[in-house]
Amino acid sequence: MTNALMSAQNLQKSFGLTEALRGIDIDIYPGEVVAVMGPSGSGKSTLLHCLAGVLSPDSGEVIFDGQPISAMKERDRARLRLTQFGFVFQFGQLLPDVSAADNVTMPLLLAGVKRKTALVMASEWLNRFGVGTKADKLPTQLSGGEAQRVAVARAMVTKPKILFADEPTGSLDSLAGEQVLTAMLEQVRAVGTTVVLITHDPRAAAYADREVIVRDGQLSPSYRTGAKVAE
Ligand SMILES: Nc1ncnc2c1ncn2[C@@H]1O[C@H](COP(=O)(O)OP(=O)(O)O)[C@@H](O)[C@H]1O
Ligand SMILES: [Mg+2]
Repeated sequence: MTNALMSAQNLQKSFGLTEALRGIDIDIYPGEVVAVMGPSGSGKSTLLHCLAGVLSPDSGEVIFDGQPISAMKERDRARLRLTQFGFVFQFGQLLPDVSAADNVTMPLLLAGVKRKTALVMASEWLNRFGVGTKADKLPTQLSGGEAQRVAVARAMVTKPKILFADEPTGSLDSLAGEQVLTAMLEQVRAVGTTVVLITHDPRAAAYADREVIVRDGQLSPSYRTGAKVAE
């Protein structure tokens, strides 16, 4: 199995006496949507943060595109997160004082894209997520579902190789959650983005190519649902 986009071996991470990750191996293949499920406190967010280079594991290694992430300088890791990874969280991720459009342009401007170009791209992605008419609204003027669509648009506007989503619909009611999720998956499939999706919702997991289950900091045997896994 050498064609994984991201590969982690023996990830271990403790916070004090809490062993959040106790030896996790996972391969993530280009274009697949992997749902990560498991009880609260089982280590899902810690796993995502280690995969994304936000947290350094105590031991083990994460390889992205053939490169060990831990060997990078923090500056290079930050650039990798900005340009190759996208992030969506449960809530509270939009900058509160700027419009939806400005929220979406932000990662582009940080990556050096000119403002005019960034605004065009932001507009395209807001449209893709059905919130094009909300471009000038502040986050407080949006419904929860609209705010999450803007957040996903912001995560996708840089065309990340991997989208990391930590319970992206966890703060929404089930209808809004389902709508955000189907919009997100339609767009990631259109672009071919690889997704690591933490979710409690079995319906959300049903949209994924496969599920893995985290229990007590370890992956329990997973079952696959039509995974596009190369042999
Ligand atoms: N920054 C932290 N400091 C201390 N303990 C933490 C920290 N982050 C996570 N933990 C602990 O690690 C374990 C796994 O947490 P987490 O990865 O957030 O689980 P999940 O996302 O599955 O709910 C929990 O026991 C949690 O309390
Ligand atoms: Mg979590």
